[in-house]
Amino acid sequence: MKAAVLEGIGTSPKFRIKELPSPVIKAGQLLVRNFASSVNPVDAIMRMGKSLLNLMGTSNQIIGNDFCGRVLASKSRLFKEGDEVFGMTPVLHGGTFAEEIVVDESWAVLKPANLSYLQAGIIPLVGLTAYQSLFSIGHIRREDTVLITGCTGGVGASAVQLAKGLEAHVSGVCREGHRDQAKELGCDVVIDYERQRIPSEAKYDLIFDAAGKYTYSDMKEHLHEHARFITTRGATQHIKGMVTTAMDMLCESKMKMVNVKPRSADLLYLKQQAEGHLLLLPLAATFPLEELEQAHQLLAHGGIVGKIGITIS
Ligand SMILES: NC(=O)c1ccc[n+]([C@@H]2O[C@H](COP(=O)([O-])OP(=O)(O)OC[C@H]3O[C@@H](n4cnc5c(N)ncnc54)[C@H](OP(=O)(O)O)[C@@H]3O)[C@@H](O)[C@H]2O)c1
Repeated sequence: MKAAVLEGIGTSPKFRIKELPSPVIKAGQLLVRNFASSVNPVDAIMRMGKSLLNLMGTSNQIIGNDFCGRVLASKSRLFKEGDEVFGMTPVLHGGTFAEEIVVDESWAVLKPANLSYLQAGIIPLVGLTAYQSLFSIGHIRREDTVLITGCTGGVGASAVQLAKGLEAHVSGVCREGHRDQAKELGCDVVIDYERQRIPSEAKYDLIFDAAGKYTYSDMKEHLHEHARFITTRGATQHIKGMVTTAMDMLCESKMKMVNVKPRSADLLYLKQQAEGHLLLLPLAATFPLEELEQAHQLLAHGGIVGKIGITIS
């Protein structure tokens, strides 16, 4: 089977397509022929981390977390050969930029019947992040008023659609050039992060910083008394934001940071929303596995709406 394995070390390792032996499965696992995946910002960190394992002699490192494909062999009572499944591997585990992958039964559910492999394969990591932030941590309720930053990114676009599924009133933060797409996703109000501020009088039942650019201090004046601020990473891109985020996490009970995990019950919710036509992510671009590096370059460049898909033929 072919896989995109990491070559080189440090900040700019490359991928090389290699033929590897088919992986072997154990009890509770599936062997999946993977047809689609996507690139995620965490790939950049995993690329650096796993490339160091190359240096230590652990070769053929494969990253990637999203998958969608067909079960080739099953040692699980939940799935049988031929089932079409989608899901994600744990972030540190990776392994999905490959034709054949080993999947624990708790990392997958049946693919949404109405979506293609590609449409389904771009959902899991960002969809689960949005679901776990809004529902498991944020306890979102029907018709809540919600603010979502990065509302046209992968996590944000998922969050907007999941919140609208509960008839929430959604304010989305994105760049001015993406205003129309934010509206199409379902945002009732759009705030341009380059030129506008959140209206001083605005208060929300839930603020989800899907972009991972804001601190609790940035948002606290906009939280209702019992509201929560949930972020994907806080403002950890710079030292000052890192310190503020760490302090807020220690001291502020209203602030939480999500740590996405594969969970089949949550995936099932995403499948149901997709089948109810309430979840469909915009596809900004698609690359074959052989052009994974170009996909990562486009993701790092930014400015896209939705997801970058990877096809594995
Ligand atoms: N903790 C976890 O478990 C977890 C899980 C998944 C993702 N994440 C993190 O969550 C973040 C978002 O992931 P993603 O997949 O959605 O990435 P993405 O698709 O690149 O989306 C990020 C979005 O944020 C927007 N943005 C940039 N600066 C902004 C600002 N100041 N205010 C509002 N929006 C802004 C970007 O818009 P433009 O490109 O138009 O500027 C883009 O639409 C990443 O940092 C990722 O590493 C964390």
